[in-house]
Amino acid sequence: MKGAFITATGTGVGKTWLAAALASACVQRGKHVAAIKPMETGVDPDPVDALALARACGDESLANATGLYRAKEPLAPYAIEKRGGPSVGSLRGLAKRVRELASEADYAIVEGVGGVLVPLDREHTVADFAALLDLQTVLVARNALGVLSYTLTAVEALRKRKISVRAIVLNHVDRSYKDDLSRSSNADVLADYIPRIPILRAPRVQSPADLVDTASLLLNTLKI
Ligand SMILES: Nc1ncnc2c1ncn2[C@@H]1O[C@H](COP(=O)(O)OP(=O)(O)OP(=O)(O)O)[C@@H](O)[C@H]1O
Ligand SMILES: [Mg+2]
Repeated sequence: MKGAFITATGTGVGKTWLAAALASACVQRGKHVAAIKPMETGVDPDPVDALALARACGDESLANATGLYRAKEPLAPYAIEKRGGPSVGSLRGLAKRVRELASEADYAIVEGVGGVLVPLDREHTVADFAALLDLQTVLVARNALGVLSYTLTAVEALRKRKISVRAIVLNHVDRSYKDDLSRSSNADVLADYIPRIPILRAPRVQSPADLVDTASLLLNTLKI
């Protein structure tokens, strides 16, 4: 399976928007893409991330495919399990299901859940699942004050698990960061610390469709 795993420094930083844009950019290049959200929580009643990805790649059935983890509470999967809700079960099984769903596609675009060390069960985090998928890992981060430490922490955590980050996307998520002085220097500072990882900046936009230029650059970076 070839493609990208989209993870992040945390929740709500733009994984779905970027993954949807990436899937659309791939489709525009004439590729057959399977864009999948294997684990989604806060599903009440629809898996909104999975649906956004499925629509972007033109196969809505992917959102409600069997064998994927869905839970109602907007919590980490392990937190849900501890409350008596569904557990994610075998991560190998889940990774195998992703491979099956993407078996006819040229590329898989897979979105994680929350940030890199979100607990999936008692022993495993999103990083362990990323390692099983063995796709090119893309780290999305909010381009705002604080992102230097969040990003370097995430990169180190992934490296420790032998996962190299192929690209970082600094995403301009919030309108309220208009006066944030850090936004203009974050990419430069990070480049000095992690010179081998390409850093892209995604602008603040109205919809994921407007991120298609950033997504296209990212596809080139990943050689997809
Ligand atoms: N480039 C952008 N420009 C403007 N708004 C953005 C951008 N990227 C993300 N957003 C806003 O941030 C919200 C969260 O983005 P998104 O749903 O992609 O995050 P996520 O990392 O997938 O979150 P989750 O952890 O819940 O899966 C979006 O609903 C949108 O309002
Ligand atoms: Mg999402």
